[in-house]
Amino acid sequence: MNITPFRALACPLDGGRLHLNGATWRCAAGHSFDVASQGYVHLLPVQHKRSRDPGDSRDMVAARRRHLNAGFYQPIADAVSRATLSAVPPAATLSCLDAGCGEGYYLRQLASCASETATLALLGLDISKWAVQSAARQDGRPNWVVGTNANLPVQSGTLDRVLCLFGFPVYSEFARVLDTGGKLIQVDAGPDHLRELREIIYPTLKPERSAEAFTPPGFAALPPENVRFHIELASGEQIADLLTMTPHLFRASAEGRARAAALTALALTVDVRLTQFVRLDTA
Ligand SMILES: C[S@@+](CC[C@H](N)C(=O)[O-])C[C@H]1O[C@@H](n2cnc3c(N)ncnc32)[C@H](O)[C@@H]1O
Ligand SMILES: [Zn+2]
Repeated sequence: MNITPFRALACPLDGGRLHLNGATWRCAAGHSFDVASQGYVHLLPVQHKRSRDPGDSRDMVAARRRHLNAGFYQPIADAVSRATLSAVPPAATLSCLDAGCGEGYYLRQLASCASETATLALLGLDISKWAVQSAARQDGRPNWVVGTNANLPVQSGTLDRVLCLFGFPVYSEFARVLDTGGKLIQVDAGPDHLRELREIIYPTLKPERSAEAFTPPGFAALPPENVRFHIELASGEQIADLLTMTPHLFRASAEGRARAAALTALALTVDVRLTQFVRLDTA
């Protein structure tokens, strides 16, 4: 697979086309954004931030990097890569955004898929600078951006795929940046996701927030796919990493967290739903 950075960025202040000149992205109105030494660009103006350090913390990002790089979620990455690359003509260039990319695992996995001739133009975006820094350090080939799904710094109609994996979808923005026929690929927790961990940390088990059968305006839904498998965590550190990278860390009580901290091994069900939506021609 040939991997190139996706370059059709837009100014987060006025939506104008950004041009890269040396290590600075500039729009026609004169706004400029420097590429950091780690190889990413910060396109999140202060007025679009809801807090000083938005998104996942440094500790959450590090925990997720260890968990994912250990291969525990490989079957999810395989399903995402398959859905992303299905029906792509061999010599095509496919432009793909991971919206809420975290530390970049799923784009790295996509980039490692074998294809003789196709080219992937990749953009990873996350609101957490810690996540984007970690992603840029691990793979310098995609374009990495600190930004928000609520106001994507991307020119309209320039993408063939948008991934939103365990993320925060903003469908109007995804519809704007996708070209007609492009696909939104979404992964969300299913009802049994990490059930065994939830049984330990919560006094009574609430059903996991499951993806509703909802088709966003401007899209047609393809049949959803359930990805279900089992993993075995074999140390207290691995269990702590999983807890740290999920919302359960904040939701659980101190007693629940203490019960998890006492464990040294845990067998878990992974249960996720992959949904695909095709961008319709609404012109
Ligand atoms: C549960 S994590 C999933 C990360 C990655 N997709 C993965 O599965 O490894 C959710 C991510 O969304 C990011 N995030 C939260 N709000 C966001 C927003 N408005 N725009 C972009 N990213 C956001 C967080 O910083 C975090 O990295
Ligand atoms: Zn501008």
